[in-house]
Amino acid sequence: MIDMINIAEPQIGVEEIQKVTEVLKSKILAQGEFVYQFETSFAKFLDIEFAAAVSSGTAALHAIMAALPIYPGDKVLTTPFSFVASSNAVLYCGAVPVFVDIDPNTYNISPAALEEAIKKHPDAKAVLVVHIFGLPSDMDDICYLTKKNKLYLIEDCAQAHGALYKGRKVGTFGEAAAFSFYSTKNITSGEGGMVVTSSPEINRKVRMFINHGQSKKYQHDILGYNYRMSNIHAAIGIEQLKKLGEFNQKRILNAQYYYKNIKNKKVVLPYTPKESTHVYHQFVLQTENRKKFIKHLHENGVGSAVHYPEIIPRQKLYRDRFNYREKWPAAEKLCRRCVSIPVHQGLTEQQFRYIVKVVNSYA
Ligand SMILES: Cc1ncc(COP(=O)(O)O)c(C=O)c1O
Repeated sequence: MIDMINIAEPQIGVEEIQKVTEVLKSKILAQGEFVYQFETSFAKFLDIEFAAAVSSGTAALHAIMAALPIYPGDKVLTTPFSFVASSNAVLYCGAVPVFVDIDPNTYNISPAALEEAIKKHPDAKAVLVVHIFGLPSDMDDICYLTKKNKLYLIEDCAQAHGALYKGRKVGTFGEAAAFSFYSTKNITSGEGGMVVTSSPEINRKVRMFINHGQSKKYQHDILGYNYRMSNIHAAIGIEQLKKLGEFNQKRILNAQYYYKNIKNKKVVLPYTPKESTHVYHQFVLQTENRKKFIKHLHENGVGSAVHYPEIIPRQKLYRDRFNYREKWPAAEKLCRRCVSIPVHQGLTEQQFRYIVKVVNSYA
């Protein structure tokens, strides 16, 4: 039997184990010093004023929406090609996601389609971009459009820790940004998330929202949630953040090896614009006969995944609520053709060389 090469694998070292042990020995397991330390390090890493640690990337998105605020009925322009959490956060506020097709090359929201959507929905309140698979969205055009039309800009950086657009880190372009530390992400805290912003007001509101709307101990001013991060999760995050540069570099080198050596004309490789540093949360190929390709990978011990088999507005939840009439041809085409192959930092040289051989031997 062949050992399967996993599509994702968290890399946990002795440093994380030691730090978690420190927390356990301290007996302060819930939110405390380790969380504050993680927040400070994360804000420093992004060179941004505020970072608030939360229990997940989804909680981070929800907290941002609530803090802006996004009200019931408000329209939020966003991509149909993402994990469902990005637009679910819009639904949590009773707001309406308006889906805008993607650029077929970058897989991110298309600035041209966004411009059209803004014309069609002049009452829209915000744009939520997702830097999908670790590639920054086209931020020059997006920032131009959001500024010109006075729209809030929210970045979903759940898959893009450390990715750069023209040398600038994603997460620093809009009003606020959300990161996820789910266990398959470029760095993890097990589960967890972070809200980053340079606005003191957004930061203040987010901090209340994630802690039962509390402004002072047992004084609850707004309806909030328990979205706090624990010291245990933060301990893992602190050590992982120190390794992010090295992890991303490894992913980039793996991807470069794929670009150089995958020669099979039956697969299309992902596109990286020159101005961006892609951090390859996923390495997503396209192919005509996906089922057959996945079978070939599986039979040869290469794990794969489909990110994503369906666009968000075609999910039952969204169909039932909104009965959309539009089409998103680029996103729908990609959903039919995409396959992710392992690119994570845990791959050995032998493994990524083997993966190339398997991809190239697909007929
Ligand atoms: C693009 C995107 N947005 C949001 C999320 C939500 O993050 P979490 O799983 O930490 O809630 C994820 C991750 O799963 C994601 O990939």
